[in-house]
Amino acid sequence: MPPLPRRSARLLLLHILSLPAALADSIWAGGPCLSACQLALNQVHFADTPVPASFLVRRCGTKLGVKSLFLCAELYCQDEDFVGGLASLNETCRTVDLPLPPLGIIAEYTDEEWEQVRRLEAGEAWGVVFNEPILPVKKFLGVAWDTLDAVDYVGGYHGFYANMMFWYWTAVVLIGVLRHTLHSLTTQSHGTSPRDPPQDPDAETLILKSQPRRRDYPSLYLRRFVTVPATFGYRCLQNVGWCTIPPRVESLTILLFAILNVGFCIHGYMIVDGNLYFGDVSDQLWRYVSDRTGILSWANFPVIFLFGMRNNLLMQLTGWDFGTFNNFHRWIARIATLQAVIHSVGYTVIVLKGIGGLAATIGMCGLLVASVFWLRRNLYEGFLIIHIVLSIIVLITMLLHVSIFGGEYDYPFWICTFIWIADRVLRVSRVLAFNPWFWNTRAELTSSLASNTVRLVVSCPNSVYKPQPGTYYYIYLLSATRFWESHPFTMAYSSRGHDPSEMESVSLLRDSASPPPTDASPPSLTFLIRPYDSFTARLRSLSASKPISPRVLIEGPYGTTHPLDQFPHVLFITGGSGIVTPLAYLSLLNRSPLVRSVRIIWSVREPGFADEVLREDIRDGFRDGKVSMDVFLTRGADGPLDPDGGWPKNVSVVVGRPDVTSEVQAAAQGAAGGRVAVVTCGPAKMADDSRRTVVEMLAAGFHGIEYFQEAFNW
Ligand SMILES: Cc1cc2nc3c(=O)[nH]c(=O)nc-3n(C[C@H](O)[C@H](O)[C@H](O)COP(=O)(O)OP(=O)(O)OC[C@H]3O[C@@H](n4cnc5c(N)ncnc54)[C@H](O)[C@@H]3O)c2cc1C
Ligand SMILES: *[C@@H]1O[C@H](CO)[C@@H](O)[C@H](O)[C@H]1NC(C)=O
Ligand SMILES: *[C@@H]1O[C@H](CO)[C@@H](O)[C@H](O)[C@H]1NC(C)=O
Repeated sequence: MPPLPRRSARLLLLHILSLPAALADSIWAGGPCLSACQLALNQVHFADTPVPASFLVRRCGTKLGVKSLFLCAELYCQDEDFVGGLASLNETCRTVDLPLPPLGIIAEYTDEEWEQVRRLEAGEAWGVVFNEPILPVKKFLGVAWDTLDAVDYVGGYHGFYANMMFWYWTAVVLIGVLRHTLHSLTTQSHGTSPRDPPQDPDAETLILKSQPRRRDYPSLYLRRFVTVPATFGYRCLQNVGWCTIPPRVESLTILLFAILNVGFCIHGYMIVDGNLYFGDVSDQLWRYVSDRTGILSWANFPVIFLFGMRNNLLMQLTGWDFGTFNNFHRWIARIATLQAVIHSVGYTVIVLKGIGGLAATIGMCGLLVASVFWLRRNLYEGFLIIHIVLSIIVLITMLLHVSIFGGEYDYPFWICTFIWIADRVLRVSRVLAFNPWFWNTRAELTSSLASNTVRLVVSCPNSVYKPQPGTYYYIYLLSATRFWESHPFTMAYSSRGHDPSEMESVSLLRDSASPPPTDASPPSLTFLIRPYDSFTARLRSLSASKPISPRVLIEGPYGTTHPLDQFPHVLFITGGSGIVTPLAYLSLLNRSPLVRSVRIIWSVREPGFADEVLREDIRDGFRDGKVSMDVFLTRGADGPLDPDGGWPKNVSVVVGRPDVTSEVQAAAQGAAGGRVAVVTCGPAKMADDSRRTVVEMLAAGFHGIEYFQEAFNW
């Protein structure tokens, strides 16, 4: 058994005795032997003990007790333990004006007198008042020693396992960073890889599947069995009853974490027969397990906070999206809540105190209940407010709860608070980066009944950054009630008015009466928004009768740009407003010399929406002729369809639903073993279908296929 730090043992003691830290600190300041003497003698009631009085006064104020301590130390303890320990105990006792007598009071003891000192067995102290100094027998002292040793041992593991919570996620994130770095390096080299299928289209059809290189096997198997599939094969974005189940890698990561937590709650205890603090075995276990779960729960707080924030730098470093961290956030919080429940139940069983902790636990349970999928889905704003308020309450009650440790256990509170404040500061700086004159950011808001969409165009002449494809932005509507609400939307495309050569798809205003945009028009971002019940419904009703230009805040950019321009073939599977994702990437893909074909499958309910997007947003994206698109009208084509007037070429319109599975299969086969990116952005079932097919194609030997997903809900 490696020596474990005494420090954590002391923390445990504090919890047990609920003593002010400074005091308990010095009471056990001696070496282990002197501490064992003290612990043994604490069981004894001496006649001259001042009562009622504080623990310290009682310890220092009894002459008989102090004499017994001197005798015990003299008999059993080594010199250094003895002298140094007594000196510091003396110092503590002087703080209550009860200095210890000089050691000389036992120096005169003759052998005979030593013999006459009453010896005490462990069981004999209970319920008797002693009018003479006593000496615990060796066995009694041994029990005291073992008790302290056990507390030390268990406390050491408390601290060790609490640190492991942090190191586990550090390791996970490091793996993510490593993978991300390697991936971006290999993706660059892949682009020019000689193994890519030859340019000659005839040759291309000959090889259906190519043999993967030997060094590609690990990555192939990893993708096929671990990183791409849903946990149980199919359902991933779709809910299962009241929950959603993360993809398999995430589930495995969470499962391993859960198993470690179970192990950490079970292992690392030492049971002492006749333990002087807690008595029988079940009492000891309750106490240790309650402390362990409480400490682990609290140790999980910083990670929970970090992973739940919008501005989590780890997202950039690992390339994992908010959804991934959000899944971790949720599961760590669930585990921490369970630990808090065990902690509180334990302490309720032992003593009916620790009410502060109980309140925090109730708050955490409330958080859990208030975060069920149903509530997040149906009452997002309500969920958010409850979540924030309860989090603050939990954090503060926790701080009060651990305040008995005199500050030593406060640090999770400060880390969480810091993370929270940093997130808010970063949010503000993102808003400022978009427009330093943020109060004056105007948007053009138009909505159309036929297309059931709201179009929001924000000019961004002052933006510090250049908006990249695949990024999303939180939009606040300032000129409305509930200006604090913000909702995420993916940029459909940007147009940069000051640089005509880079003008990709210019469509500033839906209003056809407005003059066509000129090179002088300000640069802008366009969002296409599907209205639902709350925020988006307000956007629609505000602009229902005529276009308006409200004040907005744009907080961004968030999200990462996938390296789709490194793939010779790209397939987008999109539904409804998910079309914004291909729109955003089109200019990048058109520019990339590596990209040879881009196929977009778009299923959309309203013919009017299809018409609007094809006419206004996508036209220029088709210039290079490598893009083709199938529009599936799932509600029939009785709208204002006009395929010959103003629609780009290479668009075909089909009435009905797309067959996602066969589209993905066709893309894999068409690429002939070369690299294909399958990108989904649409309804949950659509995403899950294509994810599953990608895994099947990987299994069938099409090793060049990769899966990307842009989810519009977390
Ligand atoms: C990264 C990302 C990009 C998105 N891009 C687009 C886009 O380009 N076009 C588009 O039409 N929609 C997009 N969405 C979806 C859009 O954010 C929601 O439809 C919108 O927030 C719903 O607001 P509501 O209050 O009107 O709807 P409600 O009727 O209250 O909710 C409808 C759905 O939206 C979810 N939702 C509500 N508020 C939020 C929020 N603040 N954050 C996350 N989810 C929320 C709810 O869980 C629910 O499933 C995107 C979502 C995400 C996460
Ligand atoms: C404790 O301190 C007092 C002085 O304040 C001193 O006289 C006494 O000898 C000390 N006792 C021990 C055991 O060190
Ligand atoms: C687009 O259409 C043209 C003819 O209209 C055709 O030659 C070309 O191959 C098509 N491109 C794609 C990617 O389908």
